[in-house]
Amino acid sequence: MIIGVPKEIKNNENRVAVTPAGITEFRKHGHTVYVQTDAGKGSGFTDSQYTEAGAIILSSIEEVYAIAEMIIKVKEPIASEYNLIKENQLLFTYFHFASSEPLTQAMIARKAICLAYETVEKSDRSLPLLIPMSEVAGRMAVQEGAKYLEKPMGGFGILLGGVAGVKPANVLVLGGGIVGTQAAKMAAGLGANVTIADINLQRLRYLEDIMPANVDTVISNEYNIRDLIKSTNLIIGGVLIPGAKAPSLITRDMLKLMKPGTVMVDVAIDQGGCFETSHATTHEDPIYEVDGVVHYCVANMPGAVPYTSTLALTNATLPYALLLADKGWQAACQSNEELKKGLNIVKGNIVFKGVSDAWKLPYTDVNSIF
Ligand SMILES: NC(=O)c1ccc[n+]([C@@H]2O[C@H](COP(=O)([O-])OP(=O)(O)OC[C@H]3O[C@@H](n4cnc5c(N)ncnc54)[C@H](O)[C@@H]3O)[C@@H](O)[C@H]2O)c1
Repeated sequence: MIIGVPKEIKNNENRVAVTPAGITEFRKHGHTVYVQTDAGKGSGFTDSQYTEAGAIILSSIEEVYAIAEMIIKVKEPIASEYNLIKENQLLFTYFHFASSEPLTQAMIARKAICLAYETVEKSDRSLPLLIPMSEVAGRMAVQEGAKYLEKPMGGFGILLGGVAGVKPANVLVLGGGIVGTQAAKMAAGLGANVTIADINLQRLRYLEDIMPANVDTVISNEYNIRDLIKSTNLIIGGVLIPGAKAPSLITRDMLKLMKPGTVMVDVAIDQGGCFETSHATTHEDPIYEVDGVVHYCVANMPGAVPYTSTLALTNATLPYALLLADKGWQAACQSNEELKKGLNIVKGNIVFKGVSDAWKLPYTDVNSIF
């Protein structure tokens, strides 16, 4: 198959969809890969690394779209890319159609095959192409939290791990899923006293078993949260109710119970946030203060570490991309239920219920399109 890897042009997006290691794999399977010049630059990969791995470098995005049967990207196409997309071209990328009607309409009009990373789903209902970014964000939450706990950054001025003779910081992690587990591990590794709060008792049992001794678990309810925040230095919000806005677990009045200089990192901000006082921020201007409490609410945290994020993402996407290239999208999706769940729009038809519901557009059963 002929594969195209354009350079991401969305503002501040430095990831790339295929690394030089991925090119080697595609070549081994007999595929031809065209990569736009500088596509890997933001993630630390040079054009010569791509050519050494067997890719062909093209100088413009137009050439990449024109030649490729399958386009592999990271972010959804932006408006200037819409007209480059060809009928029957396979696009494998994050789309998040339910958050953009213009994008949905454009992809219907282009009659492309849109396979969305975010809806590829395993039989246990986990989302294998979202997990790597939650892992990055969870680990990063502690790094950012530790930084903003420093006095010159507006924080209380406490070192997460303390030192001999001085107590470490207290960290409260709300939600013990992917984000919460990674955050708890990192905070515990730095020596903090960590508490994970979740509503899922079975999950807490598992975490209690695998976490080090400086991590406690507690059932998540308002009483426990109100009690814990009085002595907490860093709060990390990683709750998720699939398909719904995150619940406001920390309300505005609770800020008064906290020590001035407490830091709150709301990783769940992309689902509306789990602190009442959260609003989305950017890497350029990541924090703000409410009632003496520092809020960090960056909606695309992994964007700050594109090298790690690119490798984490491509480790997860490559096996699916190879399957699509080897078999073609129809046979690949028919033989693999996980990939089939990724089909969102096919040749002008919406085949993913959530997208047709979001925009009240007609829905076509995915099984009728093969
Ligand atoms: N800001 C970013 O850059 C970024 C990056 C990646 C992920 N995220 C977001 O982080 C959030 C968490 O993602 P995840 O992959 O860890 O999800 P997950 O499904 O693995 O975990 C969510 C956890 O929240 C728990 N939960 C639900 N309601 C709760 C409550 N009231 N109290 C405590 N726990 C509760 C669930 O039981 C589950 O264990 C999502 O909103 C995701 O979109 C943000």
